[in-house]
Amino acid sequence: MAAAPFAAPPAPGMLSHRLLTGLSLSLALAWLSLLAHSSPLSARGIPHETRRSVPHGWQPIRRAEPSTVVPLRIGLAQSNLHLLESFLHDVSHPESPKYGKHWSAAEVAETFRPSAESVDTVRAWLADNGIVGHRVSLSNSGGWMIADVTIEEAEGLLGTDYYVYQNAEDGKEHVACVSAYHLPEHVSKHVELITPTLHFDVPKRRSVAKRAGKPGVSGGPRVGPKIDTVFNDLAHCDEQITLDCLRTLYSYDYEFVSNKTTFGVVEFTPETHDPSDFDVFFGNFSKSQVGERPTLVGIDGGIIIMNSSEGFLGESSLDLQYAMGLVGKNQEVLLYQVGDTVEGGSFNNFLDALDGTFCTFDGGDDPTQDAVYPDTQPGGFDEPEQCGTFKPADVITNSYGYNEADLTPFYMTRQCNEYGKLGLMGVTFLYASGDDGVGGNGALCLEANGTQVLGAPIFNPGFPGGCPWVTNVGATQIVPGNPVTAPEIASAEFGSGGGWSNVFAMPDYQKSAVQGYLKEFPPPYPSDIWNSTGVSRAFPDIAGNGWNYTVAIEGGFVPIGGTSASSPMSAALLTAINDARQNQGKSPIGFINPTIYSDKFKDLFNDITSGTNPGCGTNGFTAERGWDPVTGLGTINFKKLLAAWLELP
Ligand SMILES: *[C@@H]1O[C@H](CO)[C@@H](O)[C@H](O)[C@H]1NC(C)=O
Ligand SMILES: *[C@@H]1O[C@H](CO)[C@@H](O)[C@H](O)[C@H]1NC(C)=O
Ligand SMILES: *[C@@H]1O[C@H](CO)[C@@H](O)[C@H](O)[C@H]1NC(C)=O
Ligand SMILES: *[C@@H]1O[C@H](CO)[C@@H](O)[C@H](O)[C@H]1NC(C)=O
Ligand SMILES: *[C@@H]1O[C@H](CO)[C@@H](O)[C@H](O)[C@H]1NC(C)=O
Ligand SMILES: *[C@@H]1O[C@H](CO)[C@@H](O)[C@H](O)[C@H]1NC(C)=O
Repeated sequence: MAAAPFAAPPAPGMLSHRLLTGLSLSLALAWLSLLAHSSPLSARGIPHETRRSVPHGWQPIRRAEPSTVVPLRIGLAQSNLHLLESFLHDVSHPESPKYGKHWSAAEVAETFRPSAESVDTVRAWLADNGIVGHRVSLSNSGGWMIADVTIEEAEGLLGTDYYVYQNAEDGKEHVACVSAYHLPEHVSKHVELITPTLHFDVPKRRSVAKRAGKPGVSGGPRVGPKIDTVFNDLAHCDEQITLDCLRTLYSYDYEFVSNKTTFGVVEFTPETHDPSDFDVFFGNFSKSQVGERPTLVGIDGGIIIMNSSEGFLGESSLDLQYAMGLVGKNQEVLLYQVGDTVEGGSFNNFLDALDGTFCTFDGGDDPTQDAVYPDTQPGGFDEPEQCGTFKPADVITNSYGYNEADLTPFYMTRQCNEYGKLGLMGVTFLYASGDDGVGGNGALCLEANGTQVLGAPIFNPGFPGGCPWVTNVGATQIVPGNPVTAPEIASAEFGSGGGWSNVFAMPDYQKSAVQGYLKEFPPPYPSDIWNSTGVSRAFPDIAGNGWNYTVAIEGGFVPIGGTSASSPMSAALLTAINDARQNQGKSPIGFINPTIYSDKFKDLFNDITSGTNPGCGTNGFTAERGWDPVTGLGTINFKKLLAAWLELP
């Protein structure tokens, strides 16, 4: 497993009383514990997982009692993950004989199930350490090896020290180890993670998932002042985007016929909408849809919160009004509303609900990031987390995002692989690329030591934009004063998220496009402020208009902008392509990246060649001919792409 570098231990002179609080104390203890273990690390293996600091609010208060028994759970490595890319290529590349032959959920589960070799290796390692026979069991799924061990045994097995940590807020205690744990190299590769080790319960928080481009703490998509005069003509698209503007921009004119395809929009509580706003929107722009509503799929207590304040209405209203308006009355839109009103939910909570093999019991939700259910707090969802409850829609759009720096590499990698598995099953996952250009959410950028700070100089890539197994969507706009028929530019009102991941390697499908950009238009920045290695995943993949959408909120209209708009809009158009294909008995388009970067497809987009995505005190990257890290391959030309996709089997 990818492990972050060790935190540099503080110099001995720094161990003053002033520092012996909170995070500093834990660093000091980490340092002391490294000293205490004078045996060479190699004897205990290699660091398997590390963490730089304990979550906010937790402090180590004493060494754990050696005789205390803890339930050690060893998550076994999945098989065949190294083949995920080629499996995806098989079903997603237009030249592949297996194009469109998506896998069943059972085939996915079977292919990635931990191997007998992993089970045997871990069992043998436990036995070598005296943990044998009836003490060791395997979970039903085959994904976890479980044994009750003493702290003393765990410390010996894992080359680490356990402490009792206390939470400053509620006094709750938690046993965890310090900064890292180790495994012999031959065992490490068979293990994903082990608990309890570095993972903490954190005090319950609201709204785990963040909206893409959330500026500071209050924002969300850019919501402007109330619009006095609503236009519904093609002459004002540079001021107010409407359904007709988008239809014209993207040569989109399609009536849904199949009633076979599925389309889902994900929202994370407390973001919500007021259903009566649909009728204001449809009444003005799509009369035949008045009265229509999305189909609520409530996940882990997700509901439509009535009487919410305006601050929580922008994202959902925007996403749903445009998703529904663009697919029209013949196509159902599913609203995946994730999380109860107390804890909210995360991407993992959502994925857990779609795939039982991914969920808590088999995987690795991280309570520092993901909501924990049952939620016993007043008003909480007091039932087990939903796990493999819902079949994923063919196209799913998500306008929320994290920064890579918010999460651990293990956590991101595991989640990213899950998008890949859903891609194998034929799901198209669209994510907004973020609204802070080369900076992260809230315009945070990175310091050299990895911390996120306003005004820091290093580009801060988003997640899951950098995951190669999602389709990442940037934003464009019409130049003020220009007609709707003129070429768009990269969003100039905010920086459209884009750049290079610091975590994920460049997938084959984009190598030629991205390396072409790097060669022809080398970014003028020193290599210590962006990932210039040329081997990491670049994003976005495509773009779509993201400025001045006319959205009904609280009975009137406001302009809303952001890649938050670009993603559901693009998703609706891809759903139309699915409808046409499925009406001919063909498969849905599934994971589109290997298709859209192929020679056959890459020039079927409206190439955006003007604009930049500023951030971190720079102008960011520039939009250029062909793929670029601002607008990807360009915006959807529906007519051309529909024809090309209908030619595929
Ligand atoms: C649309 O965007 C422009 C800037 O591009 C802005 O000046 C204008 O006020 C916006 N229109 C509305 C209705 O807010
Ligand atoms: C579409 O299919 C659903 C069931 O999947 C059905 O309830 C609905 O009536 C169908 N609509 C049309 C227009 O055929
Ligand atoms: C159109 O929008 C306005 C708000 O700007 C609203 O008052 C009106 O009811 C809407 N029209 C229809 C036919 O729904
Ligand atoms: C919510 O709004 C409805 C009408 O819009 C009103 O009848 C109800 O009293 C409100 N509830 C609360 C808790 O404010
Ligand atoms: C990281 O670097 C910044 C700038 O040099 C500094 O202000 C900050 O204290 C450092 N943080 C840590 C955790 O080392
Ligand atoms: C750049 O990205 C690669 C992943 O492709 C990663 O291994 C490397 O550490 C990154 N560089 C920096 C400076 O984060």
